[in-house]
Amino acid sequence: MRNNEYLFLRAIKKASLERTPIWIMRQAGRYLPEYKALRQKYDFLTVCKTPELATEITLQPIRRFGFDAAILFADILLIPEALGQKLEFTADHGPLLSPPIRSLSDMTNLKIEAIREKLLFVSRTIQMSRRELAGKTPLIGFSGSPFTLAVYMIEGQPPRHFKHTKSFLYGNTALFHQLLQKLTTVVIDYLKMQIETGVEAVQIFDTWGNILPPHLFGEFSALYLKKIASDLKPLGVPVILYTRGGINHLLELKNSQAQVLGVDWQTDLAHAKYLFYQDYALQGNLDPAVLYGSKEAISREVERILSLFKNESGHIFNLGHGIPPDVPLDKVEFLVEEVRRLSAKYHKKKGDHEQ
Ligand code: CP3
Repeated sequence: MRNNEYLFLRAIKKASLERTPIWIMRQAGRYLPEYKALRQKYDFLTVCKTPELATEITLQPIRRFGFDAAILFADILLIPEALGQKLEFTADHGPLLSPPIRSLSDMTNLKIEAIREKLLFVSRTIQMSRRELAGKTPLIGFSGSPFTLAVYMIEGQPPRHFKHTKSFLYGNTALFHQLLQKLTTVVIDYLKMQIETGVEAVQIFDTWGNILPPHLFGEFSALYLKKIASDLKPLGVPVILYTRGGINHLLELKNSQAQVLGVDWQTDLAHAKYLFYQDYALQGNLDPAVLYGSKEAISREVERILSLFKNESGHIFNLGHGIPPDVPLDKVEFLVEEVRRLSAKYHKKKGDHEQ
């Protein structure tokens, strides 16, 4: 199959479709028993850094559910580690980065050179995953956004009140921008490496964009997201920008060179479509918590989302944030079936016969 025939890429180009493609954020992870079984044997960072294991996990959700795109198994925090911070994942407290970056001297200790060499294992995982996917499913690469990476690097531990980030941002704005600029350079280099190695799209996760008030989102996050999208554009691979914070934040991304906007579950998808569909394909935005609900609720919510697009292309079904680790598998399976069944009805061409 040629790349340009993947359903996922056709949806991005707004070409004709027989149904709506679906993948889900954080699809390769802890809600899968086969992931948990592998993690019994190896710790998280070992899995990330061993291409055979990372490839196996990239493929697990594809084998089980047949999603229309695979996502590279890695983590956004591998960048801070490559820059010289010590990264640990604790069972109770989540990720820790030390020492935290809070001053000019902390920043000068960051080593932004040779990022490709330090993250060579990611290239290997991409090569192996592509081989295993065998042209049947496209592979999405990813990175954290400069702002989201900065939050983790400054806080050092899972952020709660964002006190250190905001003290830095309001206390030494020029230095904060220098940090964001450094991270932007690194993210561009890292994503170029992923694209050159073979990923067929890239997504930038701006997970903490929502802690910025709307009037500062443009200056501290959107500016850098746009820079990344425009630098990657000549490589010809679609860029998906995912941020949280609703329509005000999305408005700041209006004139970017990206092809897809991720829509979080707190944003009204109809409103996002009205404002952005002309310039972008849209991805999302089912509330992940619907997967704790009944099958009727899942069908209703799927139908609501699909009915906004009907037979139009340009929509990739996804959750509005990552899948929680404790959702029942049968609900995920039901979701995938419902998206396929209901979207196929909308996309049926005139003259197609009922099966
Ligand atoms: O399916 C996939 O998306 C697989 C690859 C992937 C992981 N993390 C694996 C992972 C991706 C794309 C990420 C992105 C990521 N990592 C984000 C942005 C996405 C989002 O949800 O907003 C963020 C904020 C991180 C940082 C991170 N990594 C945290 C906060 C944690 C611990 C808590 C959590 O959310 O799970 C991780 C660990 C992590 N990254 C796990 C996985 C499967 C769980 C590790 C384990 O097995 O214990």
